[in-house]
Amino acid sequence: MTTPAPAKLIRVACLAATLAILASLLVRPALGSAARAMGPLPACRYDDVLTTPRTYADWSTTLVDTILRVPKGYVPPDLVSTSEAGITGGGKVRAVTIDDLRAVTLAAAAAGNGVGVESAYRSYESQQSVFDSWVKQLGYARAVQVSARPGHSEHQLGVAIDFRSEPGGPPFTGTWATTPTGKWMNENAWKYGFVLSYPKDTIALTCYDYESWHFRYVGRDLAAMIHASGLTQREYLWANFTTTIVPPPLLPTGAPSRTTAPTKAPTPAPTASTVPSPNPSAEAMPSPSATAAPPDRPIPTAVPTPATTGTTPPGDGQLIDGQAPDLAGFLVLGLATALVAGVALAGPRLVSRQRRT
Ligand code: DAL
Ligand code: ZN
Repeated sequence: MTTPAPAKLIRVACLAATLAILASLLVRPALGSAARAMGPLPACRYDDVLTTPRTYADWSTTLVDTILRVPKGYVPPDLVSTSEAGITGGGKVRAVTIDDLRAVTLAAAAAGNGVGVESAYRSYESQQSVFDSWVKQLGYARAVQVSARPGHSEHQLGVAIDFRSEPGGPPFTGTWATTPTGKWMNENAWKYGFVLSYPKDTIALTCYDYESWHFRYVGRDLAAMIHASGLTQREYLWANFTTTIVPPPLLPTGAPSRTTAPTKAPTPAPTASTVPSPNPSAEAMPSPSATAAPPDRPIPTAVPTPATTGTTPPGDGQLIDGQAPDLAGFLVLGLATALVAGVALAGPRLVSRQRRT
């Protein structure tokens, strides 16, 4: 019996698409930081997928979010005290941050808006403590909207800082964004390389509540490009740099999975200097329902050159955890692709079986 011509055409088209996908996957890693997005920005959900790129040299383009993470052993090798930038408050950041941290501190002070550090680098373990304290106070479902699970925090990258007014207290209470210092930082920090990671009304895109105090240093060039794009940092890094293949969700999106909940913190409760005291203020924890994704944010076409450090710290150039980029993702996608091809070939038979039941 001969196969009808349309069915043949469909099979050929499916096989061609399969080959095209596989070819693009093989070529993409060679593009490095200039690679385009691996697909649309994943919807907010909770998973534990190792992010790529994630070497220490990729400090400006490594994306961590509620899905993507760095390994437990990710400890930047060049952490220095924030005091080297002449800013008060303590904590550590990567050395590459210091010059611009000094610049933004001086500029803010010159404008009459002194800034200090509320929280800077946090290890996997300290992030675990922070997250657990939020779970204890708010419950798991709410905690994941205000705090990153360990491995998922930009604070572990050593380039994120929670700023505060100086003199002044923690920014988490009240509405820091409406204070002169908060306003100044929101308008000017990007000029010094610091991008607001979780802007107002973007929870559908960033997956976190608005945090007017949380900035990530990405360098002046990349910060200017993110600012000009109108995109959130998550969107921009995903679209231009992230090469992780994110598998489809096993659970409905948006539902925090208890299976990914971290184990209890082995360390004592965090100190007040590093842990925000939960306060259900309008700024710190706006209702998720009040936020929505702007419908018409442009996807940038220009691929920027990421800022990199002048020196190569120990461990740079090596994939942390020794994992090849996206190996698991490639396998998953390869299996999925094979499945699609299989369905395409066996399609008519499957359909006819289904019709019999
Ligand atoms: N509050 C941000 C999401 C963090 O914990 O890194
Ligand atoms: Zn923060």
